[in-house]
Amino acid sequence: SISLFDVNHIYPIQTKVSKDQREAILNQRARLIWFTGLSGSGKSTLAVQLEAQLHALGFKTYLLDGDNIRSGLNKDLTFTEEGRVENIRRIGEVARLMLDAGIVVLSAFISPFKADREQVKAIVGEQNYIEVFVDAPIEICEQRDVKGLYKKARAGEVKNFTGIDSPYEIPDTPDVTIQTGTLSVEESIATLMKIILPTQGSYLQTWKPLEMGLMDLMVYMLLLLQAYSLPRLLIPLII
Ligand code: ADX
Repeated sequence: SISLFDVNHIYPIQTKVSKDQREAILNQRARLIWFTGLSGSGKSTLAVQLEAQLHALGFKTYLLDGDNIRSGLNKDLTFTEEGRVENIRRIGEVARLMLDAGIVVLSAFISPFKADREQVKAIVGEQNYIEVFVDAPIEICEQRDVKGLYKKARAGEVKNFTGIDSPYEIPDTPDVTIQTGTLSVEESIATLMKIILPTQGSYLQTWKPLEMGLMDLMVYMLLLLQAYSLPRLLIPLII
Protein backbone atom coordinates (compact mmCIF):
# COMPACT_ATOMS: atom_id res chain seq x y z
CA SER A 1 0.00 0.00 0.00
CA ILE A 2 1.11 3.57 -0.58
CA SER A 3 1.69 5.62 2.56
CA LEU A 4 1.46 9.39 2.59
CA PHE A 5 4.42 9.39 5.01
CA ASP A 6 6.86 7.12 3.23
CA VAL A 7 10.32 8.07 4.57
CA ASN A 8 11.88 5.44 2.31
CA HIS A 9 11.50 7.84 -0.60
CA ILE A 10 13.29 10.76 1.06
CA TYR A 11 16.85 11.48 -0.03
CA PRO A 12 18.53 14.26 2.00
CA ILE A 13 21.10 16.25 0.02
CA GLN A 14 24.66 16.92 1.08
CA THR A 15 25.55 20.63 1.31
CA LYS A 16 28.94 21.98 0.21
CA VAL A 17 29.18 24.27 3.22
CA SER A 18 29.60 22.52 6.57
CA LYS A 19 28.47 23.61 10.02
CA ASP A 20 32.15 24.05 10.95
CA GLN A 21 32.64 26.44 8.04
CA ARG A 22 29.55 28.43 8.98
CA GLU A 23 30.74 28.67 12.59
CA ALA A 24 34.19 29.74 11.46
CA ILE A 25 32.87 32.61 9.37
CA LEU A 26 30.66 33.72 12.28
CA ASN A 27 33.60 33.33 14.65
CA GLN A 28 31.67 31.38 17.25
CA ARG A 29 30.49 27.96 18.35
CA ALA A 30 26.78 27.33 17.86
CA ARG A 31 25.06 26.41 21.11
CA LEU A 32 21.54 25.89 22.39
CA ILE A 33 20.89 27.48 25.77
CA TRP A 34 17.66 25.84 26.92
CA PHE A 35 15.72 27.59 29.70
CA THR A 36 13.09 25.43 31.44
CA GLY A 37 10.85 26.25 34.39
CA LEU A 38 7.35 27.18 35.51
CA SER A 39 5.33 29.96 33.93
CA GLY A 40 6.44 33.16 35.64
CA SER A 41 9.73 31.69 36.88
CA GLY A 42 11.74 34.19 34.81
CA LYS A 43 12.81 32.18 31.75
CA SER A 44 12.01 34.91 29.23
CA THR A 45 13.45 37.69 31.39
CA LEU A 46 16.78 35.86 31.69
CA ALA A 47 16.86 34.74 28.07
CA VAL A 48 16.16 38.27 26.81
CA GLN A 49 18.90 39.75 29.00
CA LEU A 50 21.41 37.03 28.19
CA GLU A 51 20.79 37.40 24.46
CA ALA A 52 21.36 41.17 24.73
CA GLN A 53 24.69 40.61 26.54
CA LEU A 54 25.89 37.98 24.11
CA HIS A 55 24.87 40.18 21.17
CA ALA A 56 26.76 43.13 22.65
CA LEU A 57 29.85 40.92 22.72
CA GLY A 58 29.48 40.18 19.03
CA PHE A 59 27.76 36.80 19.16
CA LYS A 60 25.20 36.00 16.46
CA THR A 61 22.18 34.97 18.48
CA TYR A 62 18.52 34.10 18.17
CA LEU A 63 15.88 33.74 20.88
CA LEU A 64 13.00 31.27 20.58
CA ASP A 65 10.32 32.10 23.15
CA GLY A 66 7.19 30.13 24.06
CA ASP A 67 4.60 32.85 23.64
CA ASN A 68 6.18 34.06 20.36
CA ILE A 69 6.46 30.63 18.76
CA ARG A 70 3.00 29.70 19.95
CA SER A 71 1.58 32.76 18.13
CA GLY A 72 3.20 31.67 14.85
CA LEU A 73 4.80 28.36 13.93
CA ASN A 74 3.02 26.45 16.71
CA LYS A 75 -0.30 28.27 16.85
CA ASP A 76 -2.07 25.03 15.94
CA LEU A 77 -0.94 23.38 19.20
CA THR A 78 -2.78 23.17 22.54
CA PHE A 79 -1.53 22.78 26.12
CA THR A 80 -2.58 19.14 26.41
CA GLU A 81 0.26 16.69 26.95
CA GLU A 82 0.18 15.88 23.24
CA GLY A 83 0.33 19.57 22.27
CA ARG A 84 3.27 20.25 24.54
CA VAL A 85 5.19 17.21 23.30
CA GLU A 86 4.78 18.35 19.69
CA ASN A 87 5.60 21.96 20.66
CA ILE A 88 8.95 20.93 22.11
CA ARG A 89 9.71 18.45 19.30
CA ARG A 90 9.29 21.20 16.70
CA ILE A 91 11.41 23.64 18.71
CA GLY A 92 14.12 20.98 18.93
CA GLU A 93 14.08 20.65 15.15
CA VAL A 94 14.09 24.43 14.60
CA ALA A 95 16.99 24.72 17.05
CA ARG A 96 18.85 21.99 15.16
CA LEU A 97 18.56 23.97 11.92
CA MET A 98 19.70 27.17 13.62
CA LEU A 99 22.68 25.40 15.22
CA ASP A 100 23.56 24.00 11.82
CA ALA A 101 23.51 27.61 10.59
CA GLY A 102 26.05 28.45 13.30
CA ILE A 103 23.81 30.53 15.57
CA VAL A 104 23.87 30.75 19.37
CA VAL A 105 20.25 29.87 20.11
CA LEU A 106 18.43 30.67 23.36
CA SER A 107 15.05 29.15 24.10
CA ALA A 108 12.46 29.84 26.77
CA PHE A 109 9.74 27.18 27.00
CA ILE A 110 8.18 25.65 30.10
CA SER A 111 9.12 22.26 28.58
CA PRO A 112 7.62 20.45 31.58
CA PHE A 113 8.47 16.89 30.53
CA LYS A 114 11.87 15.32 31.09
CA ALA A 115 11.52 13.01 28.09
CA ASP A 116 10.96 15.97 25.74
CA ARG A 117 14.01 17.84 27.02
CA GLU A 118 16.03 14.64 26.58
CA GLN A 119 14.69 14.40 23.04
CA VAL A 120 15.82 17.96 22.26
CA LYS A 121 19.25 17.14 23.67
CA ALA A 122 19.41 14.10 21.40
CA ILE A 123 18.22 16.09 18.35
CA VAL A 124 20.83 18.86 18.70
CA GLY A 125 23.63 16.76 20.20
CA GLU A 126 24.52 16.66 23.89
CA GLN A 127 27.68 18.75 23.46
CA ASN A 128 25.63 21.64 22.01
CA TYR A 129 22.95 21.67 24.69
CA ILE A 130 23.15 23.77 27.85
CA GLU A 131 20.18 23.24 30.17
CA VAL A 132 19.25 26.09 32.49
CA PHE A 133 16.72 25.25 35.17
CA VAL A 134 14.97 28.47 36.16
CA ASP A 135 13.99 27.46 39.64
CA ALA A 136 11.39 29.52 41.45
CA PRO A 137 8.88 28.07 43.91
CA ILE A 138 5.36 27.98 42.49
CA GLU A 139 4.22 30.22 45.37
CA ILE A 140 6.51 32.98 44.06
CA CYS A 141 5.43 32.46 40.43
CA GLU A 142 1.80 32.55 41.49
CA GLN A 143 2.35 35.64 43.59
CA ARG A 144 4.05 37.42 40.66
CA ASP A 145 1.35 36.22 38.23
CA VAL A 146 2.61 38.62 35.55
CA LYS A 147 0.04 37.40 32.98
CA GLY A 148 -2.80 36.77 35.44
CA LEU A 149 -2.88 33.13 34.29
CA TYR A 150 -2.44 31.51 37.73
CA LYS A 151 -5.55 33.36 38.89
CA LYS A 152 -7.47 32.11 35.87
CA ALA A 153 -6.13 28.57 36.35
CA ARG A 154 -7.25 28.58 40.00
CA ALA A 155 -10.67 29.78 38.87
CA GLY A 156 -10.83 26.97 36.30
CA GLU A 157 -10.86 29.41 33.38
CA VAL A 158 -7.53 28.06 32.04
CA LYS A 159 -7.18 24.28 31.91
CA ASN A 160 -4.03 22.12 32.05
CA PHE A 161 -2.00 24.90 33.64
CA THR A 162 1.54 23.85 34.57
CA GLY A 163 1.96 23.50 38.32
CA ILE A 164 -1.80 23.62 38.95
CA ASP A 165 -3.48 20.83 37.00
CA SER A 166 -0.60 19.82 34.71
CA PRO A 167 2.76 18.51 35.98
CA TYR A 168 6.25 20.03 35.84
CA GLU A 169 9.07 17.49 36.01
CA ILE A 170 12.11 19.03 37.70
CA PRO A 171 15.40 18.52 35.77
CA ASP A 172 17.72 15.97 37.43
CA THR A 173 20.98 17.15 35.94
CA PRO A 174 20.67 20.68 34.55
CA ASP A 175 23.95 22.37 33.57
CA VAL A 176 22.98 25.25 35.79
CA THR A 177 20.16 26.09 38.18
CA ILE A 178 19.18 29.71 38.70
CA GLN A 179 17.14 30.49 41.76
CA THR A 180 15.27 33.56 40.58
CA GLY A 181 13.50 33.85 43.92
CA THR A 182 16.76 34.89 45.59
CA LEU A 183 19.12 36.04 42.79
CA SER A 184 18.86 39.36 40.94
CA VAL A 185 18.76 39.36 37.13
CA GLU A 186 22.35 40.73 37.06
CA GLU A 187 23.61 37.97 39.36
CA SER A 188 21.80 35.36 37.30
CA ILE A 189 23.29 36.63 34.03
CA ALA A 190 26.80 36.69 35.53
CA THR A 191 26.39 33.05 36.57
CA LEU A 192 25.18 32.10 33.10
CA MET A 193 28.06 33.92 31.39
CA LYS A 194 30.54 31.95 33.49
CA ILE A 195 29.09 28.75 32.10
CA ILE A 196 28.63 29.86 28.51
CA LEU A 197 31.78 31.83 27.62
CA PRO A 198 34.17 28.92 28.28
CA THR A 199 32.13 26.74 25.87
CA GLN A 200 33.29 29.06 23.07
CA GLY A 201 36.81 27.62 23.39
CA SER A 202 39.32 28.98 20.90
CA TYR A 203 36.82 31.45 19.43
CA LEU A 204 37.08 33.55 22.58
CA GLN A 205 40.73 34.30 21.85
CA THR A 206 40.01 35.59 18.37
CA TRP A 207 38.23 38.72 19.60
CA LYS A 208 38.92 41.91 17.68
CA PRO A 209 39.44 44.77 20.14
CA LEU A 210 39.88 47.38 17.41
CA GLU A 211 36.43 46.67 16.04
CA MET A 212 34.79 46.87 19.46
CA GLY A 213 33.49 50.02 21.10
CA LEU A 214 35.15 50.98 24.38
CA MET A 215 32.13 49.91 26.45
CA ASP A 216 31.94 46.53 24.68
CA LEU A 217 35.62 46.02 25.29
CA MET A 218 35.30 46.77 29.00
CA VAL A 219 32.25 44.55 29.39
CA TYR A 220 34.06 41.82 27.49
CA MET A 221 37.10 41.95 29.72
CA LEU A 222 35.03 42.00 32.87
CA LEU A 223 33.09 38.99 31.70
CA LEU A 224 36.24 37.15 30.76
CA LEU A 225 37.67 37.78 34.20
CA GLN A 226 34.47 36.53 35.75
CA ALA A 227 34.31 33.58 33.43
CA TYR A 228 37.74 32.39 34.47
CA SER A 229 37.32 33.44 38.11
CA LEU A 230 40.45 35.57 38.15
CA PRO A 231 40.86 37.62 41.31
CA ARG A 232 38.60 40.61 41.20
CA LEU A 233 41.52 42.72 42.43
CA LEU A 234 42.96 42.59 38.94
CA ILE A 235 39.97 44.32 37.39
CA PRO A 236 40.95 47.93 38.26
CA LEU A 237 44.44 47.30 36.91
CA ILE A 238 43.09 46.30 33.54
CA ILE A 239 40.35 48.87 32.87
S1 ADX B 1 5.16 24.28 26.98
O1 ADX B 1 4.64 23.60 28.17
O2 ADX B 1 4.57 23.76 25.75
O3 ADX B 1 6.63 24.25 26.96
P1 ADX B 1 5.28 27.08 26.35
O4 ADX B 1 6.53 27.53 27.00
O5 ADX B 1 5.32 26.80 24.88
O6 ADX B 1 4.71 25.79 27.15
O7 ADX B 1 4.14 28.15 26.57
C1 ADX B 1 3.89 28.63 27.87
C2 ADX B 1 3.15 29.96 27.84
O8 ADX B 1 1.85 29.80 27.32
C3 ADX B 1 2.99 30.49 29.23
O9 ADX B 1 3.99 31.42 29.54
C4 ADX B 1 1.63 31.14 29.22
O10 ADX B 1 1.76 32.52 28.89
C5 ADX B 1 0.89 30.48 28.10
N1 ADX B 1 -0.11 29.48 28.52
C6 ADX B 1 -1.40 29.45 28.10
N2 ADX B 1 -2.05 28.39 28.59
C7 ADX B 1 -1.18 27.70 29.37
C8 ADX B 1 -1.27 26.50 30.14
N3 ADX B 1 -2.40 25.79 30.23
N4 ADX B 1 -0.17 26.08 30.81
C9 ADX B 1 0.98 26.78 30.73
N5 ADX B 1 1.13 27.93 30.01
C10 ADX B 1 0.06 28.40 29.32
